[in-house]
Amino acid sequence: MVIDILREEHRNNETLLLVLERELCLFARGERPDYEVVHAVIAYFQVYPNACHHPLEDIVFEKLKARDSAAAARIGDLAADHRRGAERLRRVAQAVESVLADRELLRQTVNDIIRDFIEQERRHMAMEERDFFPAAVKALQPQDWAEIAARLTDRRDPLLSDVVEERFEVVRSHILQLEQEAEAERSPHAAF
Ligand SMILES: [Fe+2]
Ligand SMILES: [Fe+2]
Repeated sequence: MVIDILREEHRNNETLLLVLERELCLFARGERPDYEVVHAVIAYFQVYPNACHHPLEDIVFEKLKARDSAAAARIGDLAADHRRGAERLRRVAQAVESVLADRELLRQTVNDIIRDFIEQERRHMAMEERDFFPAAVKALQPQDWAEIAARLTDRRDPLLSDVVEERFEVVRSHILQLEQEAEAERSPHAAF
């Protein structure tokens, strides 16, 4: 079911937010995070939501507007929320670049920028799971879901095809692998 896919994608996002949060904790303690991991997570969020997650949410939201405009209005402007998320991510990327370029930027400021991105992403996903998805489940009709499902399985639509989704699965596994290696190196019991 479409909503199950969106929930699964949220869980995947949360997995990567946890990775970023772990690296951020090191940074906040004055230690050096693994910047390969940090860059990989940023790159993932720069591409993945626009490639897979938001297009699907947009379609569901359009259907909700058509079936129950009051419910859609209560949720607000989903596209604007997504744009603000992208803007917060740009600030994260710039802050990380500033740190690596040794530009003057307070450690606390960098910490706040990344923390803000993580928290707002979580808040947005929680709102969708609490308000948007249940409203869609309630209002959309079987033919709406059938139409959305048909677009999902239509491989001519590159944004929604599961081929793209499989590629991102590979990217996620790669990031988790990098994170595991970074953790192993940081472990006091790591073999030298
Ligand atoms: Fe969203
Ligand atoms: Fe979402």
